[in-house]
Amino acid sequence: MSDPIIRFDNVTFGYSGTEVHALESISLEIQPGEYVAILGLNGAGKTTLGLCVNGVIPIMLGGNLEGTVTVDGLNVGDYPVREMAKIVGMVFDNPEFQMSQMSAGEEVALGLENAGIPYEEMKRIIPETLALVGLAGFEERSPLGLSGGQQQRLAIAAVLAMNPKILIMDEPTSNLDPIGKQEVFDMAAKLNRENGMTVLVIEHEVEVMAKYADRVIVMDGGRIVMNGTPQEIFGQVDALAELKLRVPESAEVASILKSRGMWNGPIPITTEPAIAAVNELLGAKS
Ligand SMILES: Nc1ncnc2c1ncn2[C@@H]1O[C@H](COP(=O)(O)OP(=O)(O)OP(=O)(O)O)[C@@H](O)[C@H]1O
Ligand SMILES: [Mg+2]
Repeated sequence: MSDPIIRFDNVTFGYSGTEVHALESISLEIQPGEYVAILGLNGAGKTTLGLCVNGVIPIMLGGNLEGTVTVDGLNVGDYPVREMAKIVGMVFDNPEFQMSQMSAGEEVALGLENAGIPYEEMKRIIPETLALVGLAGFEERSPLGLSGGQQQRLAIAAVLAMNPKILIMDEPTSNLDPIGKQEVFDMAAKLNRENGMTVLVIEHEVEVMAKYADRVIVMDGGRIVMNGTPQEIFGQVDALAELKLRVPESAEVASILKSRGMWNGPIPITTEPAIAAVNELLGAKS
């Protein structure tokens, strides 16, 4: 196995002026090219974990940090956030608030300008990056005239322009309609599979995560309480219910059937195996 691209070594963090720890004894390794979903209730520490990876914690948001976070071999905290932005791109839930420019092209140019990228290179990078998120030819369009899904993809383009190795998305589709959600997740899956990008998604949509993620991490009270493949995690319907977290609907139905002794196979976590399981059950009965 290669070196982890993200490594948390016994990290505990409390924001300045608060008593509670937002993160508690986090140890975690993420390999290059993994697609990891982070689940947890409000206040579980998911955003805080993401901010430790892009260096906003401890550089811009202070507090008491113990342990070490290493990203792509660098000790986070030793480098300014704009330096980390060349390795880690992070987008948030409200794309509109991430837009500040008159055109999509300028939106993508902003980070490049800050990083001192020469104009000639920017002229090449901007159209390439827009094409990467499915917005080829959108240079002159006003960000505010785009759909929610397009705006979020533009926000993602703005961080991708820096050619980061890691993309963190913090509830990227919570303000989007179903089509916008689909656009963003399809694009992230493509970046992961075709470009080998490491993707970290903080997300409540368990159906989507069951379909795309290689690994699911569950947080509760600042700790990592579950960590495994989607099958391993979403198969534990009762444990997740105890944490007040949803599981994919197919897993929930299968678990009811299992508790009644009507299903003995593995718990299906996506629709196709659930349909196959139902057909098997019906076939067995007829
Ligand atoms: N800027 C801040 N200053 C002080 N405390 C904070 C700050 N941001 C978060 N916290 C606290 O840290 C803990 C973890 O919060 P965090 O935002 O990481 O959770 P989360 O899992 O992202 O929640 P949500 O699902 O609501 O986004 C909470 O107790 C929260 O109140
Ligand atoms: Mg959050």
